[in-house]
Amino acid sequence: MTNPQTRARAAYQKYFGIEPAMLLRAPGRVNLIGEHTDYNDGFVLPCAIDRETIVAVGPASNGAITAIACDFGEHRDSFSLSEPIGHAAAEWANYLRGMAKVMLDDGIPLVSAHMAIAGDVPLGSGLSSSASLEVAAGYALARIARQIVGPAHMAKLAQRAENDFVGCACGIMDQLIATSGQAGHALLIDCRTLDCTPVSIPNDVSILIAHSGVRHAHAGGEYNDRRRQCEAAARHYGVAALRDLTVQQLELGKAGLDDVSYRRARHVVTENARTEAAASALKSADLARLGELMVQSHASMRDDFEITVPAIDHLAEIMTAPLAGDGGARMTGGGFGGCVVAVAANANVPAVVNAIADHYRTPEGLPADVFVCRASAGASKI
Ligand code: GLA
Repeated sequence: MTNPQTRARAAYQKYFGIEPAMLLRAPGRVNLIGEHTDYNDGFVLPCAIDRETIVAVGPASNGAITAIACDFGEHRDSFSLSEPIGHAAAEWANYLRGMAKVMLDDGIPLVSAHMAIAGDVPLGSGLSSSASLEVAAGYALARIARQIVGPAHMAKLAQRAENDFVGCACGIMDQLIATSGQAGHALLIDCRTLDCTPVSIPNDVSILIAHSGVRHAHAGGEYNDRRRQCEAAARHYGVAALRDLTVQQLELGKAGLDDVSYRRARHVVTENARTEAAASALKSADLARLGELMVQSHASMRDDFEITVPAIDHLAEIMTAPLAGDGGARMTGGGFGGCVVAVAANANVPAVVNAIADHYRTPEGLPADVFVCRASAGASKI
């Protein structure tokens, strides 16, 4: 597959007959640790990856946004800016429509535009293809209308599009790392204040991603259930969010809380502590400590939060074993499928890759897709 820039530019020329005015990009992400903590006002440690969504954009004069999705059979969507924006039948189009709607609702004046969209973030894999689409589309809409929207503002708009228009009650992590990622760094994000602390990834450390081949679908369903359970647990403890609980308070106040809600809360409280500890470990290049925390995180997602699936548990074990304690692996993203991320010394990458090839097959019986990613910068104009 040719790269997304080439495909977006070519589709723009094919459908609109001229060169696009500009190309905008926004990356996918891999979360190193801190899962389902963002909507509990907690901590996350993601980095933007070198897989991205590209939007080629140019002016139009028909009062509408018209877009071609290269990755969905060059499917076309068009909607008027002067009428209420409703939902499209095609799922991809609702991310674009959602962005246009929340931006207009926020008072950002938009103008007619033509777009062609292409990406190479694997879909439904826990690497945030949707946030990269929202953010790239948001910047395309803003830039063509000569509007300046800052990174935290754009991330909040994109989260609102996903919450209110697409229907997934996600937190802010994916959208914020897509706007604010830094090359060569992970970001420790405090999801209450949105403070981002860059943590440098040492040159001799690799971030390896393996796709289990199990695809997830987030909107509605299990993800939103987990969020409701966390909010109910916070109410039980009388705190604004689970971020406000220590492990000690969690234990002391558990009387009257059912076992499932208690375990959901325990995942979040312990995951927050692990995430802050992991940022320190990464900063001091302590792969042994980082690996230990990642393995604990996976166990907590499996046993307490119950968002892993057997194939993912198996893949995480296969990737952790060859590291012999020097680094580790865990599921990344919302759960129920998708990818496993490993952090390892560069020298150990071949052993992990070989272990996956030897011991893992997707549910279709195929070898897993594996790649080493480069921590990349947040969204930009090309
Ligand atoms: C999805 C959501 C994020 C976050 C993760 C789990 O990626 O979009 O907001 O909750 O799941 O950590």
